Amino acid sequence: MFDTLKIIHLLAMGLGVGFAVVKAILGARARRAGEAVAEEHRAVQQITGRIGAWSLLAIWITGLAMYFMRYGGELGALDWTFHVKLLFAVIFTALTLYALVISARARASGTRPDAAMMRTAGMAGSVALLLTVIFAVIAFG
Ligand code: HEM
Repeated sequence: MFDTLKIIHLLAMGLGVGFAVVKAILGARARRAGEAVAEEHRAVQQITGRIGAWSLLAIWITGLAMYFMRYGGELGALDWTFHVKLLFAVIFTALTLYALVISARARASGTRPDAAMMRTAGMAGSVALLLTVIFAVIAFG
């Protein structure tokens, strides 16, 4: 059971990392493309964003499940490196939710989300995600 949770945890993480790269590439290309192509890029960004949000939910469910299963859910059961990993996971999640809310609000009002704000959230999120992976490997590797 634990192995299954860890496999899902890592696959969902891989999906999240892959999508972060794809979204950054599409965002950069959309800025230089014509309106029709840019619209198509934005549609793909929306789809990857949605799947990414579900995979983030899977990461939390499997992460918490493993944490309770193997470590009894006690903060003291793991050292500071796990706490730092968790902190970056929370920052990454907060930035992802922020981007999702901004996009949903813009869609509802028939406008586009502020591009600079989305870019900043995307870049900060990628750094947080990278640091989460690094500290996960330090904590458990
Ligand atoms: C964006 C968020 C996250 C990412 C990118 C991430 C990444 C990883 C990675 C790469 C590993 C494998 C480390 C290794 O075996 O060397 C791992 C394992 C693990 N993660 Fe996460 N994680 C995230 C969120 C969480 C959360 C929110 C929790 C729990 C509250 C959690 C709990 C765990 C546990 C318990 C393990 C495995 C423990 C073991 O093998 O004994 N993770 N995570």
